[in-house]
Formats: sequence, structure tokens, C-alpha cells
Amino acid sequence: MKKVKVTASKEYNVLIGKDILCETGRYIKEAVGGRIAAIITDDIVDGLYSETVEKSLKANGYIVIKYVFPNGEQSKNASTYIDIINFLAKNKLSRSDVVVALGGGVVGDMAGFAAATYLRGIKFVQIPTTLLAAVDSSVGGKTAIDLEVGKNLVGAFYQPDIVLCDYSTLDTLKPEVFNDGCAEVIKYGVIASKELFDKCMLGIKNNLEEIITECVKIKRDIVMQDEFDTGLRQLLNFGHTIGHGVEACSGYKITHGSAVAIGMIAITKATINLGLCKQDVLEYLKECLNKCDLPLYTTYSADELYSVMLSDKKIDGAKISLVIPLKIGEAILHKVSTKELKDILISGL
Ligand SMILES: NC(=O)c1ccc[n+]([C@@H]2O[C@H](COP(=O)([O-])OP(=O)(O)OC[C@H]3O[C@@H](n4cnc5c(N)ncnc54)[C@H](O)[C@@H]3O)[C@@H](O)[C@H]2O)c1
Repeated sequence: MKKVKVTASKEYNVLIGKDILCETGRYIKEAVGGRIAAIITDDIVDGLYSETVEKSLKANGYIVIKYVFPNGEQSKNASTYIDIINFLAKNKLSRSDVVVALGGGVVGDMAGFAAATYLRGIKFVQIPTTLLAAVDSSVGGKTAIDLEVGKNLVGAFYQPDIVLCDYSTLDTLKPEVFNDGCAEVIKYGVIASKELFDKCMLGIKNNLEEIITECVKIKRDIVMQDEFDTGLRQLLNFGHTIGHGVEACSGYKITHGSAVAIGMIAITKATINLGLCKQDVLEYLKECLNKCDLPLYTTYSADELYSVMLSDKKIDGAKISLVIPLKIGEAILHKVSTKELKDILISGL
């Protein structure tokens, strides 16, 4: 098992190991204590993993309650959120009790926002069960729900008290959900580590413990320097600005990972055209994304993408921060005007 220590506004450990789910009660008791544990999960994960977690929590003296909602992004809304906090209140959770998010990024984001706001903040544990949640959303403290006008528009920065990543849970993921997470893993390789990128080339499934640990360390290092997302943390958005455009144009039918893959290719191509990056970066990136069955191109035009991207919340006045790769393992933030963004889209597609 690997342990990564995060020191942000809260200090906590991320434990990454195989078959650690049956030990969750012990780890949670040691990290946060408390009397009641409220498991928040979705209906798919519930059928697969709640029983193991519940058993372990009870064996460690917890009173266990559980809230289950229908899986999928469409549940990450104000109505489910209000339902969850009512559930916590009716069950009289106090500030020393604990919310346990068991699931992917949807569960983690929403349970995290409930934990951040119920009684102005109670104990919070993340148990990620998708690759995306393991390498990205469970670490770093971003929590949120969606509004009708856009994704993640209401939320809070709220770090967990411990993250327990049992990567054997990833065995039951649908291949396309696993691949979505691969896009984020490859992103870390491009922005921060050639060594990680090379490991991805050898097959992400073959080396999960090391690869997840490496991604968590990269995210930890960035979050520790810019917890509240005012600068450096934006590096994690490599491929995401154009990717969000692709997702939005498709009415969210194209998944996040696929959209990010397309976004990474487009921005890399545009960076090469600007003379800031070499052609071989694009070739390696294509090869790596291909190995994970991720798409490389979109049929949406620069005009279509441009109009939806202008409504992205990450757009800061007239300037947009794009993440551009200089080589595999190094990327920088590059501010462009909205006019330049249009040129970049034309050049990257
Ligand atoms: N907070 C952050 O920093 C951050 C970062 C990136 C993404 N996100 C958010 O994460 C969300 C996407 O997360 P996701 O990709 O994990 O999606 P998700 O939580 O919807 O999970 C995808 C699907 O996999 C199923 N599933 C989960 N674990 C499973 C398992 N072990 N076996 C079988 N099926 C399983 C779920 O029920 C769901 O149907 C988005 O809402 C996004 O905004 C947040």
C-alpha cells in the first residue's frame, strides 16, 4: 500500500492499495473518530461495495446510515444536495460525525459539498471507485453541484480528512468509464512527468498502484502551492478548455475523458503551430490516447466550439488561461484574448 500526505488547509493522507475496502472502518476511526458514519453513494456502487464498507464501519463501532441516489451527472444537482443535507439533519449527525463518499466524482463532489455546508462543515472521507475520482476529484478539496446553466457552478473548497483508494474496485468499471480516467492520467504525464507518461505507454491497467500514486503526488504538489485555484492549479486544466467546449456542444453526450483527449490534441497541435512545442509531442500523445481507446478529433467547427467556450466560467474577463505543453512532462499557462482563442481553435482542429 502507498501513502501520500497532503498538507493544505487540512492535513490528510491518501491511502492507495488493493483490497483495503474491508479495512475502511479502522482507517476512518483512526483518522476522524465520530459516532455516526453516513455513507453517500449511487445505486450502481451501492450494489457493489456498500456492504463491505458498512460491515467494516460497524465492526469499528459506527452507527451506519446510508443515502443512495441514481447514478450519473444528472443527479449532481440542488435537489439531491438538499435531500442529502436533510437526511443528515434528520439522522442528527453532529460536527464530529462523518460523511463517507463512496463512488466516482459525482458522489465525491456532491457528498463533499454536503459535508462542507452541513453544520458549516463536518468530517469527510473520500472513497473513490472510478479512475477519475482516484487520480483527480477525490484529492484537492474541490466540491460542487451543477446548475441548469452550467456544471460545478455552486461549490466549496473543502478538503477531506482521509482518502481511501482501493484500486481493486476499478475492476468493475465499464471500459469507457475506465478510459475516461485514463485521459486524466495522461494529462498528468504531459504537464508534469515524462516518467509517468512512459508508464502510461506501457499500459495504465498494468501498473495501477504506482500510476495512481504518481498522479496523486502531482496533484498534491500543485494543490499545496495553489489550493484555491488562483494560478498554478489551472495547469490541471490541460485539454479541458477546449474539452469543455466539445462536451457542451455534444449536450454532454461525449464523455469528459473523451472530450479532454480531443482538447489535449487540439491545444498541442495549436502550440506546435505557434512554434512552442515539437511535432513529436503530438505523435506520442496520439499514440498514448489511442492505446486507451480515446478519440483524437471532433467534428465540431471552431465557430461552434468558440461560442460555447465563451460561456465557460474559467474565462477571466477578456483573457483566457490556456495550458500549453512545451514537451512531455512540462506545460505552462498561456493567457490569450478571446480573439486569439478563436485563432487557436482554427489552428488546433
Ligand atoms: N472535484 C474535482 O476536483 C473534480 C475533478 C474532475 C472531475 N470532477 C467531477 O467528477 C465527475 C465525474 O466523475 P466520474 O467520471 O467518476 O463519474 P461518475 O461518478 O458519474 O461515475 C461514472 C459511472 O461509473 C459508475 N461507477 C463508479 N464506480 C464504479 C465501480 N467501481 N464499478 C462499476 N461502476 C462504477 C457510476 O455509478 C457511474 O455510472 C463530474 O461531475 C466532474 O465534474 C471533479
